[in-house]
Amino acid sequence: MTPRNSITELGSAMGFAFISIDSPLHGRDDGILINLPDAEFWRIFLSEAASNWKGKTRMGAAASAVRIRHDLHARLLEARSRTDEVFRIARDEAIYDRPIPERHRLIFYLGHVEAFDWNLLAQRAFGLQSLHPSFDHLFAFGIDPVDGGLPTDKSTDWPAREEIERYNQSLREGLDAAIENALARPSEGHPHLIQMIEATIEHRLMHAETLAYLLHQLPKGKKISGPVDIEWRSPKTKSHMVEIPAGRATLGLRLVHGDEFGWDNEMTEHETETDEFAIDTRNVTNRDFLRFIQAGGYENTALWSQEDWAWREKEGIEHPTFWRRDGNLWMYFAMFGEIRLPLEWPVYVSHAEATAYANWLGRKLPTEAQFHRAAYGTPDGEIERSYPWGEEAPSARHGNFDFHHWDPSPAGAHPEGASAFGVQDLVGNGWEWTRTEFAPFPGFAPMPFYPGYSTNFFDGKHFVMKGGSPRTAACMLRRSFRNWFQPNYPYVYATFRCVED
Ligand SMILES: [Fe+2]
Repeated sequence: MTPRNSITELGSAMGFAFISIDSPLHGRDDGILINLPDAEFWRIFLSEAASNWKGKTRMGAAASAVRIRHDLHARLLEARSRTDEVFRIARDEAIYDRPIPERHRLIFYLGHVEAFDWNLLAQRAFGLQSLHPSFDHLFAFGIDPVDGGLPTDKSTDWPAREEIERYNQSLREGLDAAIENALARPSEGHPHLIQMIEATIEHRLMHAETLAYLLHQLPKGKKISGPVDIEWRSPKTKSHMVEIPAGRATLGLRLVHGDEFGWDNEMTEHETETDEFAIDTRNVTNRDFLRFIQAGGYENTALWSQEDWAWREKEGIEHPTFWRRDGNLWMYFAMFGEIRLPLEWPVYVSHAEATAYANWLGRKLPTEAQFHRAAYGTPDGEIERSYPWGEEAPSARHGNFDFHHWDPSPAGAHPEGASAFGVQDLVGNGWEWTRTEFAPFPGFAPMPFYPGYSTNFFDGKHFVMKGGSPRTAACMLRRSFRNWFQPNYPYVYATFRCVED
């Protein structure tokens, strides 16, 4: 008996069914399962998760449930407009391309963002029968190979775009009708319906961002051109290190109403203490990183871990992926064209390159807890903020996020988003690498309707990123949100800053 059979049986006993999204073959959107939990594991976690998630869903069943239901479907439609927007950038001839070797062809994602919603909701929440079982399966899972193996499928292996678009349309129509109907009848719905719809919204918004990474790597001629943001004013002041006194950093999701959405890896809220440390007030810029290159940073094995150096050698990495050397000039691949290297923008690099840079200066990347302390802590130590700037909802004056721009702004261009300690751009303008391996918090229990979302990546091969990029949706700027990638994946809109501790 496979784990999936066990889950299905146990899930049915709890009043809902697990389907292919829980498949042992793949994880999140981008994952392969490393170690399969056995049937005993599933039996134990389901009994725990059922009580956790049941309590989480029911606790705030009054006012906040009404508040959330009111705009849930509108938020799903808005998220769809975000993924539609990204696909419109790719010219027809690019749709079967694979801009990043470790990922699927673009055509996969065209079907995936719809199939995911259907696979999660249709049968489990609404009892709907599949409209196209083979497509439901074909578009179910992304990839994130950790063994260096790359996908080998051919473009001719995939269905015609028109056929996928018809499939997508039929899924949207089916789900829209079912969602409207269910949201109008709160007492009859699936007990996890709200959480599941929240998951589809955030999953789609994550893809709106990761699709931007993919399209960023497409040649300019294969994209419908958009703006290159080079009109920013650079700040006059300089980056420096600021002392952060020892104190508390609260990690994880705080449940106020009881039904706030968060992924399983954000559970549960817990306090940690950090010792005194110093941190850069701004991200490391392209100008800073150029000095590292000029100092021979890519040739100095002492700065790199053995694994990172092996990757650098194998791939012939000599500079950030977004850069290109042109004689004596450095050029930069912005989303919609090549420009002279913007020296004041935060450098986008892999974890491996960021770590080598920090080593060069005798510094480190922050831990996840240090990031929290610098971003959300306050000098008096009592209050921790919801956002670096305070309690106000994120807006364009606080930082570069929520799809307003395709490229970074100069480091320090949003002083109104600074933390209580004066640290800038902690949220937006590029995810920030930490030196913390992605791992569960105390009390972790996988989401019953999507158990592989995080667990498939607790493998010691992924690092936590915090903050957000220009293409990160505002809802995922919450303090507890955690992102993660492998250290040698250089296509992410990820930057860093250093600490001394
Ligand atoms: Fe996905």
